[in-house]
Amino acid sequence: MSGAATIALLPGDGIGPEITDEARRCLEVGMARAGRAVRFTEALIGGRAIDVTGSALPPATVEVVDGAAAVLLGAVGGPKWDAPDAKVRPEQGLLGLRKAMGVWANLRPVAPLPELADATPLKAERLAGVDLVCIRELTGGLYFGEPKGRTALDGGGVRAVDTLVYTDVEIRRVVTLAFRIAEGRRRKVTSIDKANVLESSRLWRQIATEVGRDFPGVTLEHQLVDSAAMRLITAPASFDVIVTENMFGDILTDEAAVLAGSLGLLPSASLGDGPRGLYEPIHGSAPDIAGQGIANPIGTILSAAMLARHSLDADDVARRIEAAVARTIADGYRTADLGGATSTAAMGAAVRERMA
Ligand code: IPM
Ligand code: MG
Repeated sequence: MSGAATIALLPGDGIGPEITDEARRCLEVGMARAGRAVRFTEALIGGRAIDVTGSALPPATVEVVDGAAAVLLGAVGGPKWDAPDAKVRPEQGLLGLRKAMGVWANLRPVAPLPELADATPLKAERLAGVDLVCIRELTGGLYFGEPKGRTALDGGGVRAVDTLVYTDVEIRRVVTLAFRIAEGRRRKVTSIDKANVLESSRLWRQIATEVGRDFPGVTLEHQLVDSAAMRLITAPASFDVIVTENMFGDILTDEAAVLAGSLGLLPSASLGDGPRGLYEPIHGSAPDIAGQGIANPIGTILSAAMLARHSLDADDVARRIEAAVARTIADGYRTADLGGATSTAAMGAAVRERMA
């Protein structure tokens, strides 16, 4: 066996340590079955990193990440670090990490399990056939554009500014990835923008159209973000691959989680130019339930499956984890967010039992 792959484990804040622990153990079991060793190196990020080092993304963490094949992350943030005038914020750790790793595409698949139809507020017939992946641009747009910040006004007021900026290069690479992924699926890309108002969206739409010409086998449609938000609820099965700007993607994927039954179920993979990726559930640190052992670890476990697939070239391990999760749900295991009483640890154990 060649050397063990190193995974940087960044549990973060709130429920982060509980859910990453279950996901780590699922990945270990899966890789061991495939005859491959993995080694986890833990590092600080977010609020806990601020408490210990004063920085949300300490240099020691960047070093661990640089030496790793992939990063498995829990979540960051919490009321303790939430003061509006805070100088350092846990979220800076996550955003800084995405930027430092150069992971510009965030894949968020949504494929609701039929057994969880009751957990959603939508009618079952709306959910039939829903199988989409949202590709959220991750290192540009409103989250990173300059200038940003506050300036005091002469009259005593204050002005705050954020900037939505995209280059053609940034748009082209993420839209191209969306088309490649669509080629392996139902061959449809929905590019979501606000081209009736925003110049950056008009450039986005123009580049998406250009890229689409290189993929004659894939249908491209453009949709404005407001009407796309409505369609996600009224006709979710009509989407295959969605590609969109950073903040639109952030908002639409929380909405899409409603289709699955709980925010706690959705995984994500953040990818850049190479095989190294960042894997995290799409939900936050849930400080209200932290430490109680009741958080749903499925979103993180499925993120670990994506890690195996995209960063460890272990598609078999990914499929084994995904199948075990589906069977665990089919067998009736439900954490509190899904209306049940299964603990975080029992859920993780049930998945590992089904990986055998
Ligand atoms: C997400 C989260 C983050 C984001 C926060 C915690 C900065 O909401 O991953 O969706 O907005 O990207
Ligand atoms: Mg979000």
